[in-house]
Amino acid sequence: MKIIHVSGYEEMSGKSADLMAELIQNSNNPVIGFATGSTPIGLYKCLIKKYRQKEISFRNVTAFNLDEYVGLAKENKNSYHYYMNEKLFKHLDISRRNINIPNGMAEDLEQECLSYDRLVSEKAIDIQILGMGLNGHIGFNEPGTSFKSRTHIVDLDQSTRQANSRFFRSLDEVPTKALTMGIETIMESKRILLLVSGNEKSEALARLLNSTRVSQEFPASILRKHKDVTVMADDAALNKIH
Ligand code: F6R
Repeated sequence: MKIIHVSGYEEMSGKSADLMAELIQNSNNPVIGFATGSTPIGLYKCLIKKYRQKEISFRNVTAFNLDEYVGLAKENKNSYHYYMNEKLFKHLDISRRNINIPNGMAEDLEQECLSYDRLVSEKAIDIQILGMGLNGHIGFNEPGTSFKSRTHIVDLDQSTRQANSRFFRSLDEVPTKALTMGIETIMESKRILLLVSGNEKSEALARLLNSTRVSQEFPASILRKHKDVTVMADDAALNKIH
């Protein structure tokens, strides 16, 4: 794993955008895996800026998102469809038909997972952006998820629902299920960029970097087995690394 140490959130956002921009400029049809959550918001702002300054174009970009809640419509402000549109896609020249996000409203969720997974595999993600949960989850793959998992339906951990309830009016409104790319699906990405910022992630990051243990109990540990992972983390997140 390559570790890029940055001073804080702003530098992480700028540097990760530079890295993404380089990839976009050097590829004819870049396929990018996007994440939601708080961590990549700064990166997305920087990408929009680069697009407005005509440094990069998303005309030939194909996008895949990691996950989506079950039961939230695209128009729901808490859906990841809404998040991606507001925070990134609507500001860019990306073609709508190249945007792929699991459909948590599908009538047949199992079928949706299968089709989504097939599409991800066919296109092959050049770079997958990841954030990490406090319990080491990546996507919505909670501790205990099989490393062999493909895109699937998950029951969300109480801790994850609690953490994400900050976006909802109450904990009760946070969906109990989600669709997520599986760990094996994520690991097939050619390159992975894991962004970690802030003191509250320092325990989790220490668990990932201080040990060589790879265990399903800490999903992000699988990243140690990937041949091209960059972890970009700031001072606060790295403060428990020895
Ligand atoms: C988001 C996702 C999650 C988040 C993780 C960290 O699509 O899949 O795994 O990356 O929960 O979230 P934040 O960035 O809000 O700390």
